[in-house]
Amino acid sequence: MAKVVFFTGAGVSAESGIPTFRGKGGLWEKFKVEELATPEGFFRDPAKVWEWYDMRRRAIAEAQPNEAHILMAELERECGDVWVITQNVDGLHRRAGSKKVIELHGNIWRVRCLECGATYYEYRTPLPEYPPRCRECGGMLRPDVVWFGEPLPVDALEKAWDLAKAADFFVVVGTSGLVYPAAHLPYVAREGGAYVVEINPEETPLSSVAHEVIRERATVGMRKLFPRLVRECERGRT
Ligand code: APR
Repeated sequence: MAKVVFFTGAGVSAESGIPTFRGKGGLWEKFKVEELATPEGFFRDPAKVWEWYDMRRRAIAEAQPNEAHILMAELERECGDVWVITQNVDGLHRRAGSKKVIELHGNIWRVRCLECGATYYEYRTPLPEYPPRCRECGGMLRPDVVWFGEPLPVDALEKAWDLAKAADFFVVVGTSGLVYPAAHLPYVAREGGAYVVEINPEETPLSSVAHEVIRERATVGMRKLFPRLVRECERGRT
């Protein structure tokens, strides 16, 4: 069966009202990466980092998956062998109904205890205090996301690599392609024989890796590509 793999970044959630990181209006225009998204920044001021994460959690809680997330989930329901590899921590792919989701950079709703190592989902927002405390041992919690300078979760990365290698159709949606190792995946897919499509209103370093580029927003691009993806799945079934 044809394996369709989506590789998504912040751009896929932009039309849900969640700001991207780079570019005009991006989070890294207003906020300092080194203060908010590095282990050093966290240990310098955990309360400040948590306040920022809680602000993002609130915005995400109020947002809804958009048509791009929904069409990816629908393709999985129709075809089965469809995966989403995402750099996003917002959980919107699962909320849209996708089940085969690999989260390369963690999840903003999961917390990790720095004392006892417990990890669990904590959906309250606003949180009762900054930094929040572990429900098991009272230790300090951190968001279970990957910060700059930290390794990606090994299982997720290995699975993503395997999927990219085995993909027939690899669709890159809404990522600037600037953050590694995730940005290697389209290259891995192409070398493995996948047909690579990029959906992004702007040119990125990954545009040259793609066989085809759809210069549209994620919702419009997905709407255009969807019938072909369904056909691709059906072709794989025969
Ligand atoms: N539809 C599709 N793409 C869009 C849309 C949209 N509506 N709006 C913006 N984009 C594109 C931009 O053109 C840009 O290429 O989304 C991309 C967003 O890029 P980034 O903000 O760099 O997001 P991303 O690639 O996901 O960042 C990677 O960097 O800060 C870290 O850990 C964070 O996971 C993140 C990683």
